Amino acid sequence: MAPAEPQAPPFKQKGAAPHFAEERKGWKGYIEWEKYPKKRKEAADILEQYDFPVPPEFQLAPLPDSNPLLTGERFKQYHYALGDTLKDIPDISWKYVLEEKSPDMIHVLQFPYNGEPPRDRLVENEITTNQDHFVRNHGGIPEVDPSEYTLDISGLVKNPKRLTLADLQNESLFPRQSNIATLQCSGTRRIEQIRQYPGDGDELINAPWAEGAIGTARWTGVSLKKVIKHCGGLKEGADNLEFFGADTYVKKGQVYNYVVSVPWRKVKANEVLLAWEMNGEPLPKIHGFPLRTVVFGYIGARSCKWLYEVRAISGPSQAPVQKKEYLYYTPQVGKQNAMYSNGFSIQDMPVSSAIMSPVDKAQIVHDGHIKLRGWAYSGGGHWPVRVEVSSDGGSVWYEVPDMTTKYFHAWRLWEIDLPVDAEGWLEFCVRTWDNALNTQPTFVRSAWNWDLHVTSSCHRISIYSMNRSRPLTARRLELLEKKGMAITPITRPLEIDLESDEEYAANMEIQDGRDPKE
Ligand code: MTE
Repeated sequence: MAPAEPQAPPFKQKGAAPHFAEERKGWKGYIEWEKYPKKRKEAADILEQYDFPVPPEFQLAPLPDSNPLLTGERFKQYHYALGDTLKDIPDISWKYVLEEKSPDMIHVLQFPYNGEPPRDRLVENEITTNQDHFVRNHGGIPEVDPSEYTLDISGLVKNPKRLTLADLQNESLFPRQSNIATLQCSGTRRIEQIRQYPGDGDELINAPWAEGAIGTARWTGVSLKKVIKHCGGLKEGADNLEFFGADTYVKKGQVYNYVVSVPWRKVKANEVLLAWEMNGEPLPKIHGFPLRTVVFGYIGARSCKWLYEVRAISGPSQAPVQKKEYLYYTPQVGKQNAMYSNGFSIQDMPVSSAIMSPVDKAQIVHDGHIKLRGWAYSGGGHWPVRVEVSSDGGSVWYEVPDMTTKYFHAWRLWEIDLPVDAEGWLEFCVRTWDNALNTQPTFVRSAWNWDLHVTSSCHRISIYSMNRSRPLTARRLELLEKKGMAITPITRPLEIDLESDEEYAANMEIQDGRDPKE
């Protein structure tokens, strides 16, 4: 495994290691930062003493051909620098990757862990297995003893409460809710933007995702609406709910817990679940054990893992993940002029889709049809109603005949035996229409944005087509097979002559020679 960031010097502690206490008994790796500005300042002062490794430059050069693609040395070093409570978190987190995820995950970033499953497996089942579900972390994985778990409902609620897991699971207090819902990271397919037009080189760019930062599960828990009702409802002025995750997140030298928010109207529609089960099993540690939010149809960032507090507030959260990240800029905004206030906040995910099989640059021998498989999704309670694919870059579209079940909040998988006559390099693409007639921008350039979010343009791949229903191709393939030679990779030179001299002469005769007679 080639190291992705070989330039990172080993970490050397400066002076005595600091000690920031664990916040709660039975919780490991949870330091409360949000409630203690003094402690946060102390941590920032510690971090300021170091020259951490800079983010590796990989947008203006080819991505490393390794797994992990990136190791996240500076993120590990932030944790080492913050002392004994956090120094083991990178190792512990990696242990959970090895225990809970499929061995062949594509490790996009080792720490904080970001990984996606192999493409073809992701579209085998409409429900993604827990082992294959993508993971997007901003920090390490806290370990929580479920018997010591509590959730605080605080802020502008009439009767603030501290609830145990047993309270939440008590069906005489709260009816249980279970839904199939897709989670999608807004970084899905970011690699297409990076390849064509690099963007923000800040932390979030360390997730150069392909098409797999999306997954679908059956989530079980209670509706947050019922829990708020149990607390007497909201006080005057409350219109958003803020979620606090126990992991430590470092951004521009400042230390935070992971904090995001959603508007009350989303909660009121029973579209925000406090979930403890994923596909009938307790949440895996890496997916937020013991409790997380799952916000249907929104960007995955709002589905807060290792949830320890829900606070009713007025207006959206001022925490950096909500206020300063996951912003969508217009294409003329970049390093020269970006401000937090001139990007809009990504909430509902737009309609998008991807071809998962075959993969880009595949060289395919076929008999006039190529099987394509992929996913299609639309957030905000919309669902894909039509998926169309093209083998000519988007002039002629074919509607896919087969899609999996429709849900208000989940993707549909699709497949088609696409008629393909032409040979050579072809541009295959897919676009989806949702029930509100939304469809996808045409090219990456149409929707490039500085933070490289939501690559929702038509997904395009290059396929080399070899059509056996054409006589010359059939003959060449037969000959190669007889000789035990492979046609792929197409870039390897043919070891045999393309034509015998006799055949060449006969063909020249038919063509009346190479040159005109007069
Ligand atoms: N919650 C916490 N506490 N910390 C995180 O880093 N990442 C968010 C969200 N919830 C995150 C979090 C993002 S950006 C995404 S896309 C989803 O979790 C991913 O959920 P998953 O890792 O379970 O697939």
